[in-house]
Amino acid sequence: MCGIVAYIGHKSAKPILLEGLKRLEYRGYDSAGLAVMNANIHVARTVGRVRVLEEMLKQHEGFDGTLGIAHTRWATHGEPSERNAHPHRDDESNGHGIVLIHNGIIENYTVLRKYLQDRGHTFQSDTDTEVLAHLIGELYDGDLEAAVQAALREVTGAYAIAVICENEPDVLVVARKGSPLMVGVGKDEYIVASDSSAIVAHTTQAFHLEDYTVARLTRDAFRTTTIDNVPISPQIKELEFDLGQIDLGDYEHYMLKEIFEQPQALRLCLKGRINPRDGQVVLGGITEFARDLVKAKRIIFVGQGTAFHAAMVSEYLMEDLAKIPTEVEFSSEFRYRNPIIQDGTVLIAISQSGETADTIAALQEGKQRGALTLGLVNVVGSTISRETDAGVYLRVGPEIGVASTKAFLGQLMVATMLATFIGRRRFLAADYVSSLLDELETIPDCVEKVTQLSDQIHDVTAKYADRENWLFLGRGYNYPVALEGALKLKEISYIHAEGMPAAELKHGAIALVDAETPVVALALQDELYDKMRANIQEVQVRGGPVLAIATEGDADIAASVDDVLWVPSCPEELAPVITAVPLQLFAYHTAVYHGCDVDQPRNLAKSVTVE
Ligand code: G6P
Repeated sequence: MCGIVAYIGHKSAKPILLEGLKRLEYRGYDSAGLAVMNANIHVARTVGRVRVLEEMLKQHEGFDGTLGIAHTRWATHGEPSERNAHPHRDDESNGHGIVLIHNGIIENYTVLRKYLQDRGHTFQSDTDTEVLAHLIGELYDGDLEAAVQAALREVTGAYAIAVICENEPDVLVVARKGSPLMVGVGKDEYIVASDSSAIVAHTTQAFHLEDYTVARLTRDAFRTTTIDNVPISPQIKELEFDLGQIDLGDYEHYMLKEIFEQPQALRLCLKGRINPRDGQVVLGGITEFARDLVKAKRIIFVGQGTAFHAAMVSEYLMEDLAKIPTEVEFSSEFRYRNPIIQDGTVLIAISQSGETADTIAALQEGKQRGALTLGLVNVVGSTISRETDAGVYLRVGPEIGVASTKAFLGQLMVATMLATFIGRRRFLAADYVSSLLDELETIPDCVEKVTQLSDQIHDVTAKYADRENWLFLGRGYNYPVALEGALKLKEISYIHAEGMPAAELKHGAIALVDAETPVVALALQDELYDKMRANIQEVQVRGGPVLAIATEGDADIAASVDDVLWVPSCPEELAPVITAVPLQLFAYHTAVYHGCDVDQPRNLAKSVTVE
């Protein structure tokens, strides 16, 4: 949610900043802007994508300096417009040429704005960010770092900021609380960004800024302090990131690439972690806490969006395999609910990015109330991975498409391994675990088989592409998958879709069923098959077309519904990893049919770093 990048060094800043913005564009893309120090600070801003900014800059001179900041925006305060785009300046008439970019939300900006207006400040935008720029200007007394520290002591909310000042043309000041920020350390140069994808092309040495920390960077040195000016020493680490992983290659969209990468990603996720022969699961990141997990009295999973659906499946897995009472909750609700955390409670945060603001806050809430905290996270070194007591990385590689696909499957795999890890130490028999792990090992191949049906799924999509409302039904393990299938369709094709437990249909949504409202039914040959078939009939007798996701070879269902997408047979608890795939492809082909921007759907951001 908003991407920021800043550079100070000896190279021309503009191309580095533009390249960085393109890498960060998945974080927000309703407007973009850039500022470069070149005697004065030159600012360019525009509504739209980074490529619009790039085109615009071709017609402008003066952006030749070696110090600059840039931003790609996902609007929180103020509509997407040029005047609300970052960077923002301090007061035009009484200012000091201070220019700033910001990711986050300044929660007390109304009070601060009023205070500044009373002191004669005039604002050009509706943003909370401009208020922060003015506040820094108001407190500036010849030392940018000190002014930033002082201003940040006055604000509440979340921020990752980069600030430059015309009076100090060789200084870049950056700071962080709540929103992610990393500093890449090169030879006489620094590149600061919301995540490592914008840094790795320049250096692999970097450090994360901790909350309430400010860094003052010049070309050959840096220092970091708290906002109270207490010096601190960050730990510089080697970044593990292969730029090749985020190349689009021959694919038309990242989402499609990531769907097709799933079999390989899952093989990497499993690699070295399961041993079917001995019925063992090895999860290095949690070994230290194995005893606490085995003795856990209650587990709470939290997440948002797709990660929440993974958390729902995890609840089923944990109760089935580990027999520990488990709950699942939206991170955003958990933290404001005054939750009761007793002894023996484990809070498990699921997140692709490791930066979702609500999930971080839920984790902090749980921690403060005494829960042991784990993270099931994809991005190495992200805030959640650093703030949890322990965790398991998904290891599915970078996910760029805004709609989560391979991370979802990775989350399900890791949750399965975690539940088996605990269950095996509690009561699961070795034989049972061996055969489950045998099956788990075949899942990447099953997923591969489904991705090969992409063309067939494309044809089915074409048949239904003009329908405006969809219902997705599932039961048991496939209920969260129904929710995820509906979410995928909504996210990228802007078509209304609702997922629900199949039996719940009769309690309301069946009123929507007619010949124009198709129903996707997850109807595998499992324990709930007959019940699901009955629900399908309820739809059919009301004229609703049915598209079934069914077990390969189920001739019976093929004969009774309008269309079928096949999936290989597998144990019930592993099914979501497979049944999610045709629904991803279904949403993808529908979105492409409608000409939607699959990788950067309107109004969405990959990483929601505001609450
Ligand atoms: C956003 C993304 C979703 C993602 C959710 C949670 O809404 O668009 O794809 O599932 O955030 O993100 P996380 O990084 O915590 O998994």
